[in-house]
Amino acid sequence: MNAAERANFITFAGSKIRKIMHPEIIKISALKAKETVVFLLSDAANVPNDHFSKAEQKYIREQNKKNKTDFFLFDRLDFLQFVQLIPEGKTAYAIKENCRKKGDSLAGILNNRKYGSVVICDLSGDTGYVLAFAEGMALGSYQFLKYKSETDKTNTLVKIAVFSATVTKKDVDALSSVVSAVYHCRTLVNEPNSYLTALVFMKEIGKLGKEAGFTVEVLNRKKIEALKMGGLLGVNKGSHEPPAFAIMEWKPAVCKNKKPYVFVGKGVVFDSGGMNLKPGDSMSTMKDDMGGGAAVAAAVYAIAKAKLPVHVVGLVPATDNRPGPLAVVPGDVITMHNGMTVEVLNTDAEGRLILADALSYAKRYKPALVIDLATLTGSAVRAVGKLGIVAMQRDAEKELEELKRSGNEVYERLVELPSWDEYAEWIKSDIADLKNVGPGEAGAITAGKFLEEFTSFPYIHLDIAGPAYIEKRDSYRGSGGTGTGVRLLFDFVRSKIG
Ligand code: BES
Ligand code: MN
Ligand code: ZN
Repeated sequence: MNAAERANFITFAGSKIRKIMHPEIIKISALKAKETVVFLLSDAANVPNDHFSKAEQKYIREQNKKNKTDFFLFDRLDFLQFVQLIPEGKTAYAIKENCRKKGDSLAGILNNRKYGSVVICDLSGDTGYVLAFAEGMALGSYQFLKYKSETDKTNTLVKIAVFSATVTKKDVDALSSVVSAVYHCRTLVNEPNSYLTALVFMKEIGKLGKEAGFTVEVLNRKKIEALKMGGLLGVNKGSHEPPAFAIMEWKPAVCKNKKPYVFVGKGVVFDSGGMNLKPGDSMSTMKDDMGGGAAVAAAVYAIAKAKLPVHVVGLVPATDNRPGPLAVVPGDVITMHNGMTVEVLNTDAEGRLILADALSYAKRYKPALVIDLATLTGSAVRAVGKLGIVAMQRDAEKELEELKRSGNEVYERLVELPSWDEYAEWIKSDIADLKNVGPGEAGAITAGKFLEEFTSFPYIHLDIAGPAYIEKRDSYRGSGGTGTGVRLLFDFVRSKIG
């Protein structure tokens, strides 16, 4: 184990416990001789004289012209030098995304060769692209190795130093906060239900609060019963584990907003489908069903860590969904936190039941805007696959446009579906106020419409069922939990403060 590898471990009572830490990202004010550097430039004509020979400069120019090669590696034996040209793209945000992917590729090379640190020397002057490159490097280095006995695969990259005239320390610190948050989110999603019960999920959120300085209150079963959260209690009925409800709040002394932004995340720590047990393999990834809740907790963490002057609240109702002997059966009627009754025709449509209670609970904050994130429907996956987030809004047209812009910037893109009045008819029950499933078609929309019934404020619904979890590695998104929603919410809130 070299020094860089060692940095990934802490020795605790004689045993080695792996610490999941993102590479530290710092701003530096000078380059040293003989260190591993990637020179980021926008033009092949600008390869720096003092680091590359005339022949090398000529080679780079020619290769770039002839083959459009935009990445070059020079092995100086005891260190490496890279030249990365800002990649092409149709729009500024597409270029930014390509920068992240280039960053991920470079991180792959450094980790394979067991390098511990790298300097990004910015000769492009484009802050957005430099930060995206660093972001791709850091996010691409994520691993979830907790349950691996072999440890020799541990990534070595522990330090990314940015040398740039335009990138500020504040930029770098904000990036650090958000990268750290995405790491936490991914790990929460990757943790199986054998570790991450609803209560353990709450404990983990508590740890995040302690570290970043936001408050976390956890409602236990008794309080949830007192609040008559029939949706959360109903879904929990078939489980051997109690439900829980996390309330996070970040309210610094100076806030730009009078009324808070409230984020609500689906926290189903495992979704078996309940009595409507999921068939075949469709249950195998359902530890990811708290991906919305993890994203909300991690977004609040990033906002607090970066000390953004914005009042935000995070709400995460949590439980597993199981077919135990007391489980709700199809046809049962439950009474929700806001007093409405719901005929549960399919126990696998459980997310909307726990979210509905959290949404009506959100009313007490008199929110400026509520955004929910949920791995809610297979229908959303069928509509846009892993590439997009399905979005709906009510009384939040302008905010959704802003959120779409953030979605492009961080490349967690939004696709809006309609929330036309007619759909509301589709979820009316014959014997109760609502039923929890519509007819087969437009399943993502009827789920969103169901949630809307529990709102009385500007509201955006985000169905992240597609991108929250991926089985095959996709560049810096990694594999497993992707952290979808964290960078989105962070960018949205940050752009609110200008
Ligand atoms: N958690 C699932 C949705 C899901 C599916 C997430 C695939 C990620 C990947 C949700 O609770 C669910 O089971 N939804 C049902 C609803 C149906 C019964 C109306 C679905 O989409 O099939
Ligand atoms: Mn389900
Ligand atoms: Zn679910």
